[in-house]
Amino acid sequence: LGAEPASRPLAGRRVVVSAGGTREPIDPVRFLGNRSSGKQGAAIARAAIAAGADVTFVAAHIDVAPPDGADVVRVDSALELRDAMLAHVPAADVVVMAAAVADFRPSELQPSKIKKRDDMADPVITLVRNPDILVELVQRRNAGTDGTPSDQLIVGFAAETGDGGGTALEYGLAKLARKGCELLVLNEVGADESGAERVFGQDHNSALILARDGSEPERAAGSKDEVAGAVVRRIARALGTDHR
Ligand code: CTP
Ligand code: CA
Repeated sequence: LGAEPASRPLAGRRVVVSAGGTREPIDPVRFLGNRSSGKQGAAIARAAIAAGADVTFVAAHIDVAPPDGADVVRVDSALELRDAMLAHVPAADVVVMAAAVADFRPSELQPSKIKKRDDMADPVITLVRNPDILVELVQRRNAGTDGTPSDQLIVGFAAETGDGGGTALEYGLAKLARKGCELLVLNEVGADESGAERVFGQDHNSALILARDGSEPERAAGSKDEVAGAVVRRIARALGTDHR
């Protein structure tokens, strides 16, 4: 490549990236899942590694290979993801919650496979709320009780559609305030005007990076790698390391 020295604005920084979709067990062979591919989270992990960071990649279900050079931690359910984040986040300078965490899980895990029988009523699966991991990470950092650095930077993701109650941007700003994280990467999801699926499983993306400090939202568009590069540059700017 060119003669420019590689820019490594995250050199020496520890970054934990969660990615993919959690799977909430119903019985030993079945789960409730979602359509997250893990591509955007993997791209952010790669971009952080390229920027010099030590990356721990906490992978729920992903359709892509985890990034080379990351420490990979595999998880399945939201509760397992929470445990992995609580274990790894206190040592991190930056946390990126790109995982699609199931909001609800089956209230009980059936110990054996659910069978169908003609003399049986159709089963009903009751759901309970999962903990909000992102909110908990922010609260733990702010409480300063588990050794998490108080200047740790926490980045959330949001997938929003506009509707009669507001625009995707308004929902994103409200979510940023509610979660308490420093940055929120906002994607608009759902079918576009032509009915084609955007974001989930796609290689291209258009996101707005919202900041809690009130600075202007930044548009990041292009391949998921380009969006990841923009997110990592924005992280470096927030850390004040973007000129390294
Ligand atoms: N998130 C989390 N734990 C959850 C749910 C979400 O850590 N139980 C994180 C996601 O990883 C993401 C951010 O919170 O970084 C926003 O997720 P999203 O699903 O958009 O937010 P929710 O608070 O679940 O709101 P909604 O009702 O819109 O799904
Ligand atoms: Ca959710």
